[in-house]
Amino acid sequence: MILVAGSANLDFVVRAHHIPSPGETVLGRDFKTFPGGKGANQAVASARAGAAPTHMLVGLGDDAFAVPLEASLKGAGVQLHTIRTPDHPTGTAFICVSDDAENAITVAPGANAQLRPEHLPSLQGFTHLLLQLETPMETVTAYATAARAQGVTVVLNAAPAQSLPAELLAHTDVLVVNEGELATVSGHTGSIAECLARINVPTMVVTLGHHGSCARQHGAFTLQGAYPITPVDTTGAGDTFCGSLVAALSQGKTLPDALQFASAASAIACTRWGAQSSIPEAAEVTAFIAQHPKTSPE
Ligand code: RIB
Ligand code: NA
Repeated sequence: MILVAGSANLDFVVRAHHIPSPGETVLGRDFKTFPGGKGANQAVASARAGAAPTHMLVGLGDDAFAVPLEASLKGAGVQLHTIRTPDHPTGTAFICVSDDAENAITVAPGANAQLRPEHLPSLQGFTHLLLQLETPMETVTAYATAARAQGVTVVLNAAPAQSLPAELLAHTDVLVVNEGELATVSGHTGSIAECLARINVPTMVVTLGHHGSCARQHGAFTLQGAYPITPVDTTGAGDTFCGSLVAALSQGKTLPDALQFASAASAIACTRWGAQSSIPEAAEVTAFIAQHPKTSPE
């Protein structure tokens, strides 16, 4: 059973030719709101991947923005542990998606910044705790420490990129990062292998965008190629990967099989608009894997 502790944001998304440079105004096109936030996206991905039940500890304001976020999580089957913050608005994210499917995101954390160490529910019955960095570092560290002490596997997605306190790394079993986050976490800008050598976590997973992903577990490396797709909106692709990966691991899949499942789920998510709205169900991922020959990593 999986507990995701983290953020939920209402995403305000505008499509534009390109992402504006500092000082530039860009005339965008379509505008839409979508349920998002790294924690909530990962919880939805875990639930849709079939990890039942997936629970989420989330901070939400007492406002209209919380309504679609709760509806999306509940609709995916996520069981909520909600910390309501009347004095702090629900988290929001302001996202520009360019015609080449790149994005730039500014998050206003609001209620997400109010999650405290004492809000962690009982971990009785949970096997995995999935964390990200859109909630306070002190809180994330306290949750990881408590989970480790109770034998719960701690999975940390170090996004958005921040350097990590030694105590948090020491209590992390699985660390998932992209290349930029890897450089920040390792404090090194060399090759992936050099960066990985500086981090002492039992299982390391590095996502490499259209180059796939790689993992190091007990000194052994696994490479997973990317599925060829034409991206429309990559927002939440990393979250889809993380939630699907943890769901697959909790279902007893091997690390290579879990990586393949997570890669396929995130590839599908890139072909659709929005964060949670783009996350596939397990059956769609399985069918996608069957239809697409296993690609070899670059
Ligand atoms: O990782 C994507 C997410 O980042 C978006 O849904 C947005 O809310 C920000 O948290
Ligand atoms: Na998407």
